[in-house]
Amino acid sequence: MRILVLNGPNLNRLGTREPDVYGTATLEDLRLTLSAESGEHEVDVRQTNSEPELIDWIHEAADEKSPVILNPAAFTHYSYALRDAVAMLTQSGVPLVEVHISNPHAREEFRHNSVISGVATGVIAGFGFDSYRLALTQLTR
Ligand code: DQA
Repeated sequence: MRILVLNGPNLNRLGTREPDVYGTATLEDLRLTLSAESGEHEVDVRQTNSEPELIDWIHEAADEKSPVILNPAAFTHYSYALRDAVAMLTQSGVPLVEVHISNPHAREEFRHNSVISGVATGVIAGFGFDSYRLALTQLTR
């Protein structure tokens, strides 16, 4: 099984971006961590700052029936286009776990709403990179 681990805008700056919120580990560290724990499964960790590219990747997951771990980053809070793509995926029976490194509910008001959560299979937030590890455990059990 191939699991897509999709990351939205600004997450390519992990390591230096607001380290007090997101820590000092990089996207490459995330790739190594998840690869080490994926067992017989393949994890494909990607990042984009582009909304259309992220939507295309969700379509790819739907076509290939690949489970997804998605950190939509700021798109979480306003991208109805991404929500529609995620709804298409999960309604076709392919699971998608929404993850966040920080706990958006403990932060600014605008982060409290996710337009993605209502169509995600589940949501894990606030555990740093462990949010992704927990999602991987769930998708591979
Ligand atoms: C984030 C939380 C979002 O509010 C923010 O825009 C991000 C990262 C997280 O992983 O904690 O870019 O998704």
